Amino acid sequence: MKKIVLSNGLEVAPVALGAMNFGTTTSKEDAYRVLDAYVDMGGNFIDTSNNYAHWAGTGDESETLLGEWLRDRGCRDRVVIATKVGFDRHGKGAGLKKEQIEYWIDESLRKLGTDYVDLYYAHTDDMGTPMEETMETFHALVKKGKVRHLGGSNYDTWRFAEANLLAKEKKLTPYTVMQQKFTYLHPRADMAPKYIFNEAVSRERLRFLKEKDIPLVAYSCLAKGGYEVSDRIPADYIVGDRLEAVRAMAREKGVNTSALVVGWMVNLHRCEGFPRVIPLFASSRVEHFMDNLRGVELTLTDEELADLNRA
Ligand SMILES: NC(=O)c1ccc[n+]([C@@H]2O[C@H](COP(=O)([O-])OP(=O)(O)OC[C@H]3O[C@@H](n4cnc5c(N)ncnc54)[C@H](OP(=O)(O)O)[C@@H]3O)[C@@H](O)[C@H]2O)c1
Repeated sequence: MKKIVLSNGLEVAPVALGAMNFGTTTSKEDAYRVLDAYVDMGGNFIDTSNNYAHWAGTGDESETLLGEWLRDRGCRDRVVIATKVGFDRHGKGAGLKKEQIEYWIDESLRKLGTDYVDLYYAHTDDMGTPMEETMETFHALVKKGKVRHLGGSNYDTWRFAEANLLAKEKKLTPYTVMQQKFTYLHPRADMAPKYIFNEAVSRERLRFLKEKDIPLVAYSCLAKGGYEVSDRIPADYIVGDRLEAVRAMAREKGVNTSALVVGWMVNLHRCEGFPRVIPLFASSRVEHFMDNLRGVELTLTDEELADLNRA
């Protein structure tokens, strides 16, 4: 897998591996199989959070399992670890105040068994804390070497832009990666997502990212397995012509539909108005994961991309 260099200089695989369920609903053995397969294929970009997966356990499991795997494989310096702060963990931990960020970064480093995180995301916005406090605290972590790069997830575009304007004005470290929900299917305009933060990316946001040269790390990009098993498609997506279009092209190319979605995403930056998109996906089953990974090597012509975009 050929690495790409992001605008902040970070060198990552064109697809990222989601570790959200590792250690809870995905067993240690299955998680190790997927992690090993991803790295064997040249992958290096692994995504977790300080609260994964608290709805199925304590919230420490994913980072703890990753820490064990990094130690067992001795590969810390060969992978890019992204983790997050700011979301709830059993009613605690939500927010981006100075003392919260300082507490949770040390917890993440302890669980991961490392002294730095390559990419640290604000997991969601915190309108109750002055933005300056949050950005100054993140910047201090960069200066101390605990964190290398910053990202924002589940932010409104205007708040993300404001944070970066503030960073520029105060000479602080900006957010150089955005992580947001994005897939090939269009979201339904008539149905609000269950959580306000959980909105899929709009065309306007994609143009903003393109203009600012900020990559989009696209979570839930395989629609929870819905490209393979239709009844798993979350209710807030439109199914219809677009689903048919991507399934038909996948059949023509002899890959599964999820792989075609991955291929579409990694090639999207070739189309006008689209930023670099890094699909972030997960699997508990290494066979599924390897099938989906075939998308990275897919060749899509300009006409094929245009057909998919038009559907
Ligand atoms: N920033 C945020 O707020 C946020 C929110 C959600 C997620 N994330 C990150 O994004 C990562 C991925 O998110 P996600 O789990 O929501 O979405 P996803 O990758 O779109 O979906 C994962 C699901 O798809 C199924 N699947 C994948 N390939 C399949 C195949 N070929 N056939 C059948 N089923 C298949 C998997 O089932 P199997 O296990 O059976 O393969 C799994 O249940 C997470 O691990 C996390 O790191 C971030």
